[in-house]
Amino acid sequence: MKELKEYVKALEDRPLTFEDEDLFVDREIELKKMAELDYYFEGKIIGVCGQRGIGKTTLFNFSRFPGKNKLIIKIIDRENKLSIISNIIGEIITYSKTKGYNEIEKMGKKLFTKIHVSKKEAVGISYIIEYKQTKEEKISLFNFLKSFKKFMDLLSKKERLVIVLDEIDKQKVDEILLLVDAIKDAFVSNSITLFVALPYEFYENFISSKTSSTETHNLENVFSYMFLLEPFSDDDVKRIISRRFPLSLIEEEALNKIVEFADGNPRKAITTLKEAGIIAEGKIRLSDVKGVISRYIRTWIKSTKLTQNELNVFRLIEDGRVADITQGVSKKLRKSRSVVYKYLKKFEEAGLLNLEGKNAELSRMGRLVKEVI
Ligand SMILES: Nc1ncnc2c1ncn2[C@@H]1O[C@H](COP(=O)(O)OP(=O)(O)OP(=O)(O)O)[C@@H](O)[C@H]1O
Ligand SMILES: [Mg+2]
Repeated sequence: MKELKEYVKALEDRPLTFEDEDLFVDREIELKKMAELDYYFEGKIIGVCGQRGIGKTTLFNFSRFPGKNKLIIKIIDRENKLSIISNIIGEIITYSKTKGYNEIEKMGKKLFTKIHVSKKEAVGISYIIEYKQTKEEKISLFNFLKSFKKFMDLLSKKERLVIVLDEIDKQKVDEILLLVDAIKDAFVSNSITLFVALPYEFYENFISSKTSSTETHNLENVFSYMFLLEPFSDDDVKRIISRRFPLSLIEEEALNKIVEFADGNPRKAITTLKEAGIIAEGKIRLSDVKGVISRYIRTWIKSTKLTQNELNVFRLIEDGRVADITQGVSKKLRKSRSVVYKYLKKFEEAGLLNLEGKNAELSRMGRLVKEVI
């Protein structure tokens, strides 16, 4: 049997593709949902939200759309706003080349040069995203978008297609939204369905825009549906680990600790396992895992900007009725109940405590934080 070292070395955090099917832990429901969404919202734009590392890219790689092709476009050119749309057109050109769609390839190249060659026009396009065009720029933009729409319509006539925009980093999301908003007409009038990977926050924003009457953003105008990719269950996280790593080389308690910390996020599980494996000898033990996790958590606590004083209060918090907690803590600290309640609210905001009705419960992170402070 291979040694611990070799298994740890082989642990890698990267999106899975069909070639690593043996490592893929079923996202059966989500895969089905992707195909359903394409069916019900064909030709529309759908957001796929989820924490970093929750498995968005992997899900896209494994998604199948009956009777359709799939084109995953990675937004990797992050130089400027304009480069995002060049990125999309460039990928479609490459795709058309492999398919032998000469007409589309030619048209795409023309569009491409429109972006790059004429400076004035280029400004026009980058202004899509800023909504402050002059009249002249508006016309050039209008013309560009018309050509872009023709380009997409032509593509949709060639084949039935799903396009995925992936790898959009957080800083660029606002730009992507404005861009998608500007080019949405090129998608909505034909049968090409567009999936866009988005950070988790967009899900909350989308839902809140549905319940509030004052519109603060135009998510609803752009996206027909917002799909939230949920964290994995603990059992699935265990399965993800066991497909990559022999469980005989990790203590059960150590494994459980990793699962607890990962909280459904496979990237967190894999990277913690790897780090613990690096410092472990012979077998990964609970103490190895605790060492790694406490370092992560200490760093995380710093990022929450909770003061030492607040952390001292947090130490006293246990699951229970809110009324009992505030009473108990206020006695101990000689502070008024309303002050203690404000602390609770703060802990809730930091993700350490869940306040539900009359009850308070430490979150997983809250429990882990209590172990290290
Ligand atoms: N269904 C799955 N089965 C097994 N491992 C998975 C699965 N989904 C994701 N992973 C693993 O989890 C990690 C994160 O996956 P992935 O890169 O797909 O997430 P992501 O949400 O696209 O991340 P990012 O926000 O960085 O784009 C990878 O190491 C990947 O191999
Ligand atoms: Mg990804």
